[in-house]
Amino acid sequence: MKFFIDTANLQDIQEAYELGVLDGVTTNPSLMAKEGISGLENQKAHYKAICDIVDGDVSAEVISTDLEGMIAEGEALAAIDPKIVVKVPMIKDGVKAIKYFSSKGIKTNCTLVFSVGQAILAAKAGATYVSPFIGRLDDISSDGMALIQDIVEIYENFGFETQVLAASVRHTMHLVEAARLGSHVATCPLNVITGLLKHPLTDIGLEKFLADAKKMEV
Ligand code: E4P
Repeated sequence: MKFFIDTANLQDIQEAYELGVLDGVTTNPSLMAKEGISGLENQKAHYKAICDIVDGDVSAEVISTDLEGMIAEGEALAAIDPKIVVKVPMIKDGVKAIKYFSSKGIKTNCTLVFSVGQAILAAKAGATYVSPFIGRLDDISSDGMALIQDIVEIYENFGFETQVLAASVRHTMHLVEAARLGSHVATCPLNVITGLLKHPLTDIGLEKFLADAKKMEV
């Protein structure tokens, strides 16, 4: 399973990268705004800075909602760095844009996916990644994980190459469950990745080993 970090914060990206387990980054307009980035040139520079830290794919989202606008924006984003994946919303023109980018060899991440039908459309259009939002479904008493399971099963039925990218991950068990169900990727904040480290028995065990090691000192 690939781990992507879901942030535009360069320090968090650097920290996850240094842990040695990072396979890529996802951003969205809310995450970019949170970092105080404004203006097209600053956005491009920030995406480039992210690409310079990581080895894998970096999702950058288009703001346009019409086909022409999405194509122009997506091509400009893809020109920033070969690691850029154009993130496109699951709307009618978005599906057309994914088809276009796919025919041009530009990687895409279909975002804001909340149903199996939407995931099938994204795969048919040739999306590289499809992003079902687990947490936002759970927030409204829907079963986000059931959606991951259904998409994985259907993609396997037909050999779709689109990778399932579990998004809107809120806690470690979202990540663990998504892994169990065969999601190809999970994108999550840094605290979810580092949260996987934690177990009280590890801490207690290490404390005891270190105490016993002291007894061997001469
Ligand atoms: C990632 O691609 C999504 O934009 C992100 O995971 C959404 O997460 P949120 O629901 O916590 O905003």
